[in-house]
Amino acid sequence: MKRLAILASGSGSNAEKIMEFFKSSSKGKVALVASNKPDAYVLERAKKFNVPTFTFSKKEMEAGLIEEKLKQEKIDWVILAGFLLKIPESLTRSFPDRMVNIHPALLPKYGGKGMYGAHVHQAVKEAGDKETGITIHLVNEHYDEGKIIFQAATSVSAEDTPETIAEKVHALEHRYFPQVIDSLL
Ligand code: GRF
Repeated sequence: MKRLAILASGSGSNAEKIMEFFKSSSKGKVALVASNKPDAYVLERAKKFNVPTFTFSKKEMEAGLIEEKLKQEKIDWVILAGFLLKIPESLTRSFPDRMVNIHPALLPKYGGKGMYGAHVHQAVKEAGDKETGITIHLVNEHYDEGKIIFQAATSVSAEDTPETIAEKVHALEHRYFPQVIDSLL
């Protein structure tokens, strides 16, 4: 049984789908939900599933606290689901090819610094792109540049707003992220 940790900074709707999926899995178990935001809604969602939670500051992460916690909890896979801080290099090195992120666009488009959440969907809208989607990729020391494992696309019409684009992308994330993680274990 592989032990998963989810790192998230916000609402955690993806984290919830993952916890739901692995509740009855014989391959993996969500053993920890960790957040840099003590008031992140993802922590409430974790409680609902009886998954232990852990919070830490940016400074503590940089000092190695989260890395220590993940080792203590014997975590095999780290799942970034809306985690907004840059992962320290030593942490990526501790989980070689065992850390995965979801990005709400078709990388390499709309990746890199500042490209998160609503900013991404706004940029897609402004560019007039006809499609967008999701990218699930491994994490290395260069943000959004790890090996791509999975992509799925959805169409964007002239009537779409950044909000409706976000909804379409979220639907794809919820549908695919848990099963792509499952296929990696
Ligand atoms: C998702 O769109 C994910 O791709 C991004 O952050 C968002 C998190 O949403 N990186 P949620 O907190 O899982 O609802």
